[in-house]
Amino acid sequence: MAFMFLRELIRTYRERDPAARSSAEVFFCYPGLHAVMWHGLSHWLWTRGFLLAGRFSSHIGRWLTGIEIHPAARLGRRLVIDHGMGVVIGETAEVGDDCYLYHQVTLGVARASSGKRHPTIGNNVIIGAGAKVLGPITVGDNARIGANAVVVDPVPDDTTVVGIPARPVDRKLQGREPHFDPYGMPCDDSLDPVLRDLEGLRAELSEVEVRIARLAAQTQQRQTDQQLPAGN
Ligand SMILES: CC(C)(COP(=O)(O)OP(=O)(O)OC[C@H]1O[C@@H](n2cnc3c(N)ncnc32)[C@H](O)[C@@H]1OP(=O)(O)O)[C@@H](O)C(=O)NCCC(=O)NCCS
Repeated sequence: MAFMFLRELIRTYRERDPAARSSAEVFFCYPGLHAVMWHGLSHWLWTRGFLLAGRFSSHIGRWLTGIEIHPAARLGRRLVIDHGMGVVIGETAEVGDDCYLYHQVTLGVARASSGKRHPTIGNNVIIGAGAKVLGPITVGDNARIGANAVVVDPVPDDTTVVGIPARPVDRKLQGREPHFDPYGMPCDDSLDPVLRDLEGLRAELSEVEVRIARLAAQTQQRQTDQQLPAGN
C-alpha cells in the first residue's frame, strides 16, 4: 500500500515538475515527497490515539524537510510540495487531490479559535510560493493562488486570485479543460496556435531587422573607407 502510494507520488512529481529528471532523483532529492510520506506515518499514529508519538514523528519530519504538517491534517492524493522549505499545514487543514504547493505556503489560522480553523483546499489547486491561506475558508477546485497572496475569503472553483488581500484576476479557465500548468501559468501548449505562430514570426522579424541594421552599418563603413584618400 505504502509502496503504491510512493510510486504514484513519484510519477506525479515526474509528470508535473519540469526539473524532475528521474524517479531516483525524486525519491532521494525531493523534500516535499519525504514530508508527505512522513506525514503518512504521523497521521497513522495520530488517528490511532498515539498523539504524542504522532506529534513527535511530525516534528522529525519537519526537522528533516523544513515542511511542517500537523499530524491531524488531511492530505489528498498526489500532493506535490515543490521546494517545500517553510510550508506550514495546520491541524484542521484539508487538502484535496492533485494539489501543488510551493515553498513558504501557509494553510493557517486567521483568528484564534477552536474547532475547524484552517482552510479546506479543493482538488487540483495550485498555491504559489509564499501564499498564505488563512481561516476556515474553502478554496474551490482548479483554483490558482498567486505567489505571496494572502487569502482570507473563499475562492470559487476555477478562479485565480492574487494580492493582499487576494482578489480574483480576470482570468478564468474559460471552457478550457482543467489541466496542470507548471508555475500556475499557461504553458505554450495551451496558447492559441495562431498566437503562437504570430509570436514566432515576430521573433524572426526582430532578428531579421537586427541583421539588416548590422549589414547596413558594415556597408556604410566600407563606403566611408573607400572614399578616404589613399595614404590617410
Ligand atoms: C497567479 C498566477 C498563477 C497567474 O498567472 P497567469 O494566469 O499567467 O496571470 P497573468 O500573469 O496574466 O497575471 C494576471 C494579472 O495578475 C497579476 N499577477 C499575477 N501574479 C501575481 C502575483 N503573484 N501577485 C500579484 N499580482 C499578480 C499580473 O500582474 C496581472 O495583472 P494585470 O491584469 O493588472 O496586468 C501566477 O502569476 C503565479 O503567481 N503563479 C505562481 C508561481 C510561483 O509560485 N512560482 C514559484 C516557482 S519556484
